[in-house]
Amino acid sequence: MTQHTEALRERIAAELLAARDRTTRLTTVVDEPDLVKQHSPLMSPLVWDLAHVANQEELWLLRAVGGAVPMHPEIDPLYDAFEHPRAQRPSLPLLAPGEARGYGHEVRGRVLDLLESFSFRETPGAWGARGQAGFLFGMIAQHEVQHDETMLATHQLRVGPPVLSAPEPGPAPADAAALPAEVYVPGGPFTMGTSTEPWALDNERPAHVVDVPGYYLDTTPVTNAAYAAFIADGGYDEPRWWTEAGWAHRQRAGLTAPLFWRWEGEWVRVSFGVPAPIIPNEPVLHVCWYEADAYARWAGRRLPTEAEWEKAARHDPATGRSRRYPWGDGDPTPALANLGERHLRPAPAGCYPAGAAPCGARQLIGDVWEWTSSDFLPYPGFVAWPYKEYSEVFFGPEYKVLRGGAFGVSPVACRGTFRNWDYPIRRQIFAGFRTARSAPSADGGR
Ligand code: AVJ
Ligand code: FE
Repeated sequence: MTQHTEALRERIAAELLAARDRTTRLTTVVDEPDLVKQHSPLMSPLVWDLAHVANQEELWLLRAVGGAVPMHPEIDPLYDAFEHPRAQRPSLPLLAPGEARGYGHEVRGRVLDLLESFSFRETPGAWGARGQAGFLFGMIAQHEVQHDETMLATHQLRVGPPVLSAPEPGPAPADAAALPAEVYVPGGPFTMGTSTEPWALDNERPAHVVDVPGYYLDTTPVTNAAYAAFIADGGYDEPRWWTEAGWAHRQRAGLTAPLFWRWEGEWVRVSFGVPAPIIPNEPVLHVCWYEADAYARWAGRRLPTEAEWEKAARHDPATGRSRRYPWGDGDPTPALANLGERHLRPAPAGCYPAGAAPCGARQLIGDVWEWTSSDFLPYPGFVAWPYKEYSEVFFGPEYKVLRGGAFGVSPVACRGTFRNWDYPIRRQIFAGFRTARSAPSADGGR
């Protein structure tokens, strides 16, 4: 018990530290004017994310868990994501970079003090039950790394000389041609979501059984070469591949290729300020849901549903159990998945054989977020926790679910049950996709 508590305390401290290292890296490679500037109306100035992360940490750990009084109540509304849309944030009287860093540092110091004396026994009252196992500490570590990914998207939109470089070279290309194009996921019930993962967020809960008919899923995410073939075949000029809303958006926004692609006699993609010819076997990135959906129809296929995706990623036919990750229950390692900003780009399709799911699909975790056909909806028995604005206010048909996490996602915020969501027009996120098809009824049985 004591040993377990100490291990939990250390794990929390390590995750908070890892998140802060990432935040620091993303906000020290640019100068102060760059931090304060809005690089795109879609994104906050980086200095907003910096103080917002600290403000949420103060709110949920120092105040909610620790019972502390607000440090600077007057700044709370500035960093409430629901008070001011991103486009308005640069005109707010935000903390200057030095003040934001100082605030974050002070909050973190107090949080580590709180953590040291915190008893992880179930506390009666507001933070009981799901307040166990340091959930709120885990939630805050996940919140910070989610904003790190948001800041990485801001970096990708940033104009100017490149400032980010990958800490490590990516894995060698795999022999994707030797892999089957698609894998079969047998029909039958499986357990979706979780009731046991200690740091699972409210929208991943509770575990519930879903019957998923047999279907075929692409072994790997759709590649740049495959997507370029869709473009070359006039995919962007053929309304029949697009939904009505998708076509209207394609027209209005003038879409002709993924975001950050440009034609220079060949397709060139700008990645964190560096232009280079697209790498044919790399998963396509920065496509919106409408583009992913149109590509799938062009290919005679469709996007997988969220339940189909999760079954491919978690269901173990040998035991009938759902696992935490495609490879099993162990945490991600560099040999299993491309996560954690190590390579700053997706790995070629077919990499990470050790991370394959029982069905044979590769790279379900890491590399690129994968659009699914599903709207973001609550699971049966959903309870908002600890606040409605984390998930509940977003439920509904306006948002589509993405799964699996991308190269910039930290392992602490990535697992087989993790759900991300965004508008179907969004392209600045690190999103790609894979396609699926239903099994003919003859082989769709159990
Ligand atoms: C889960 C990525 C959609 O960025 O809006 C950050 C995560 N929630 N702060 C978002 C989040 C509150 C969220 N997404
Ligand atoms: Fe946030």
